[in-house]
Amino acid sequence: MHIDILSLFPEVFEPMLSTSIIGRARDNGLLTVACTNYRDYTHDVHRTVDDKPYGGGPGMVLKCEPVFAAVRDVESRAAVPPLRILLTPQGRRLDQPLVKELAAAQTLLLICGHYEGFDERIRLGLKPLEVSIGDYVLSGGEAAAMVLVDTVTRLLPGALGAEESVEEESFTDGLLEYPQYTRPAEFEGMRVPDVLVSGHHAEVARWRAEQRRLRTRERRPDLPAARQDG
Ligand SMILES: C[S@@+](CC[C@H](N)C(=O)[O-])C[C@H]1O[C@@H](n2cnc3c(N)ncnc32)[C@H](O)[C@@H]1O
Repeated sequence: MHIDILSLFPEVFEPMLSTSIIGRARDNGLLTVACTNYRDYTHDVHRTVDDKPYGGGPGMVLKCEPVFAAVRDVESRAAVPPLRILLTPQGRRLDQPLVKELAAAQTLLLICGHYEGFDERIRLGLKPLEVSIGDYVLSGGEAAAMVLVDTVTRLLPGALGAEESVEEESFTDGLLEYPQYTRPAEFEGMRVPDVLVSGHHAEVARWRAEQRRLRTRERRPDLPAARQDG
């Protein structure tokens, strides 16, 4: 997969992009990422990317020209037309089914906003998929883009090592994950459940499946899987 990220602060991405699972996916050639600054597509000495909103009001709005120019230039060099994604609190909420859809694309183009947001014609003209990472407002789309890159990378075939698996992770099949423990068997009076140290694989699997159902019902009764019998 290839991901292009357009942003006013492309320098913030590299530390996370070169760490852990994402860094390994890039090293192994499963993922390539390129970050581009809208300011490189301005033509005035101040490299202006924003302006005051028509009709008045606080803050500044990202201008059409540098954003359209950046999108068109990056796309002109893409091997396949990317799936355009605009990060906005007004978009479709990112969840695991949407992450799965995005992970199936060959190329993604992430458009990060800043300030008060985008000139509406960016949305109207570029017709991106609008994605929100939750019902709160970030200062910019960079953190949202990073969340998206991280979640998508985990689903790329080969990105997780043999010892890591998404199969029983929270949300993969609609349920939350079971509780996990590691050594010591007792810590400050809290003991690891006997079944986990029993060495009885079938019992462990049964206990984990049951814990997943209980946890999901208890913590996320809104999830459809929480309402299933069993
Ligand atoms: C301060 S926000 C603008 C919010 C906008 N004025 C509104 O009320 O809808 C600046 C930028 O941060 C990003 N952003 C903020 N919250 C987000 C969220 N929940 N999900 C995705 N992107 C978000 C978007 O790219 C947005 O253009």
